[in-house]
Amino acid sequence: GSPVKRDATLSDTYVTETSELADLDWDNLGFGFQPTDYMYFMKSTKDGFFSKGELQRFGNIELNPSAGVLNYGQGLFEGLKAYRKQDGSILLFRPEENALRMQMGAERMCMHAPTVEQFVEGVKIAVLANKRWVPPMGKGSLYIRPLLMGSGAVLGLAPAPEYTFLVYVCPVGNYFKEGLAPINLVVETEVHRATPGGTGGVKTIGNYASVLKAQTAAKAKGYTDVLYLDSIHKKYLEEVSSCNLFIVKDNTILTPAVEGTILPGITRKSIIDVARSQGFKVEERLVSVEELLDADEVFCTGTAVVVSPVGSITYHGERVTYGNNGVGIVSQQLYASLTRLQMGLTEDKMNWTMEL
Ligand code: COI
Repeated sequence: GSPVKRDATLSDTYVTETSELADLDWDNLGFGFQPTDYMYFMKSTKDGFFSKGELQRFGNIELNPSAGVLNYGQGLFEGLKAYRKQDGSILLFRPEENALRMQMGAERMCMHAPTVEQFVEGVKIAVLANKRWVPPMGKGSLYIRPLLMGSGAVLGLAPAPEYTFLVYVCPVGNYFKEGLAPINLVVETEVHRATPGGTGGVKTIGNYASVLKAQTAAKAKGYTDVLYLDSIHKKYLEEVSSCNLFIVKDNTILTPAVEGTILPGITRKSIIDVARSQGFKVEERLVSVEELLDADEVFCTGTAVVVSPVGSITYHGERVTYGNNGVGIVSQQLYASLTRLQMGLTEDKMNWTMEL
């Protein structure tokens, strides 16, 4: 793409340029790629800092075939959403948390990372430049995908000498084809997503490529997705391919503790706080597959999946169902609380939203 403006600022220029709603079937958004107008692009310099970024027309990017990301998987991604409020203004949800998580991941992967301010600035600029792609309230959200990649050339195994931070956006609706209906998971007993000491706890691109085989096999058998177990005992819950997992038993909510093998989800963390504020007891600890099978309700959380109720779990060929395949009361309540907050329909007592 070609640069449209060297010193990208939060000026009204982009806002007025793109204030109309894009021509899209807003009632039928799924979670798929949709080209938008602009992307934000920023490169690191030799001393390991990022210089000022710029907006470019959305399009293909150029990479050296020897780039660290292409050869050795030196890449991280993030995911966050912008919602349109009833009055047309736009809210971001906890973007600093994504910035901090990218910094953690960059430390693990030996990459240079943007500062929190640079990250949030890039996200804001990308969203404002693509304002016409933010769905009307109630129709979905604008999914924001920040990438960090080793773009400098390496041949021998080493950290790349240069990094590129890029932010693109896509309007999205529900992640799973089930929509808001409960999903069906299968517990994977052979393949593991992460190992202690590995990179399971950071949002590196390789963690996602490595689950595609199990996910593809599960989908071919009619399941929505896969639930992974710990690789040592093979009995404690970790996470689903693209989201964290919670179980509800009586008035207690359980979720696997973040100990380096599961992704520290921002929706996960937010749901824990929301649930506690509503009087639920929430425990972050080892959760066994037996407890899962004995639960009253099960749900997944993630930026993309939001709060997705689980209707059934299949473990070693045995299928356990929850709540008569309906949406559990606790899942429903937490989903409503979180999304109302994200859309600016309830007072933001947590100070989690950022208005653009
Ligand atoms: C997200 O929920 O934002 C993610 O990054 C998960 C991805 C696999 C869609």
